[in-house]
Amino acid sequence: MSQIKLDMNLERSQEKEADDGNLLFAKGNRFMSNWGMGQKGLSIWEGEKSVNEDKIGDLEDAINAETRYIEEVTKENGTNSALSLIFSLKEEVGALAKVLRIFEEKGISLTHIESRPSRLNKDEYQFFINLEQNGDSALNDIVRCLRQDIGATVHELSRDKKKDAVPWFPRKIQELDRFANQILSYGAELDSDHPGFTDSVYRARRKEFADIAFNYKHGQPIPPVEYTEDEKKTWGTVFRELKTLYPTHACYEHNHVFPLLEKYCGYNENNIPQLEDVSNFLQTCTGFRLRPVAGLLSSRDFLAGLAFRVFHSTQYIRHGSKPMYTPEPDVCHELLGHVPLFADRGFAQFSQEIGLASLGAPDEYIEKLATVYWFTVEFGLCKQDDKIKAYGAGLLSSFGELQYCLTDKPELQPFEPAKTAAQKYPITEFQPVYYVAESFEDAKEKVRKYAATIPRPFSARYNPYTQNIEMLDNVQQLKNLADSISSEMGILCNALRKLE
Ligand SMILES: [Fe+2]
Repeated sequence: MSQIKLDMNLERSQEKEADDGNLLFAKGNRFMSNWGMGQKGLSIWEGEKSVNEDKIGDLEDAINAETRYIEEVTKENGTNSALSLIFSLKEEVGALAKVLRIFEEKGISLTHIESRPSRLNKDEYQFFINLEQNGDSALNDIVRCLRQDIGATVHELSRDKKKDAVPWFPRKIQELDRFANQILSYGAELDSDHPGFTDSVYRARRKEFADIAFNYKHGQPIPPVEYTEDEKKTWGTVFRELKTLYPTHACYEHNHVFPLLEKYCGYNENNIPQLEDVSNFLQTCTGFRLRPVAGLLSSRDFLAGLAFRVFHSTQYIRHGSKPMYTPEPDVCHELLGHVPLFADRGFAQFSQEIGLASLGAPDEYIEKLATVYWFTVEFGLCKQDDKIKAYGAGLLSSFGELQYCLTDKPELQPFEPAKTAAQKYPITEFQPVYYVAESFEDAKEKVRKYAATIPRPFSARYNPYTQNIEMLDNVQQLKNLADSISSEMGILCNALRKLE
């Protein structure tokens, strides 16, 4: 949609107030709708190396990181193919012999086998094997026998990568640094319909911001930016206008946090807050943190950040010629729309739940989760005291749509992830449909149940102490989780006793 057409829409629009409206997401939608899978491919095994290139001695890190998706190497001149897989067996006499008999009975030859003590369960051994694959059915039987009859933990194999392989995703918070090299377009690149397209000064400025983000690494302070007077003026206009609507249109959580941001983070109409200050504030509230983003991220990468309670934030501001319009997310959208909600415990958990659900999810589910994100974190409404209020950042940073969304013009539907995920939506006009959450807690539980329907061979949990994603698909991890819950239960019981 071109800028010209958008302007025409505004001229004939009955919603004169729709100066910025949904146009904010003309590009913002690209943020959510580009999967980028072609760029990352379905790279597996730490995203870079295949098992077939590794010896088992090199598997330690990958196994410990619970990466277990094995690549197939197809022979160039035949239909048979070599396949590698890893399985774990309890250390007992004859255990391996039982397994080998299964392969023999199915007529499958092993071409290579290595073993080592399991790093996850000290009473188990891990075996890495290469085998000749004669057909899917025999292999299916073998995997089933290994799992059911032998009780082996089979580290999933992928015979059809398109169908079975699990896309790479970050396991450690430091791995979010990789996203900078996977952006779909650099932040300094503007489309011809962007208000700043012909402004060489603005473009140079955008490159400064993109360079900051590109060079940023996890753990570093976000470099402060000295905003120009013009930039501050643009911020001031947006800040002033939106603030008049918040008391009546924004949800309780937004209105509760906003004064704290004014008090502690320099939110006022004359000052554009620094991301570092805001990030530090958020960390004290919910553990959420900001990191600057150099350009357009794929939905998969963007959602993965949420699993770590990391929000990728722009740092630049929209072009000063149109303060109430931006074709893409900018610092006004992030700081006024997103940040207040990320300081709320319930909303932070809800957002993280979407992120966790996205890890390793098939492409079609990434699209669905991105749509759920769209109708909640960006354009969500919620019930509060028998009224409907806005909590989506796309609404809270849009003077036009924030008013429109609470009129009787749009259609309101109850938030149900499976239904919401299939909802089509326009990107260059106000949303015709909004989804209303009963509460963040209710929305979180619904997303959690929805996530359970996503086909992937593990559950994922974020460990805030190690800042790693833990894959709950082996006994040791479940024991660790049980210990952790047990410890928390002890604290809870003690606290309850003291209240009696
Ligand atoms: Fe956003």
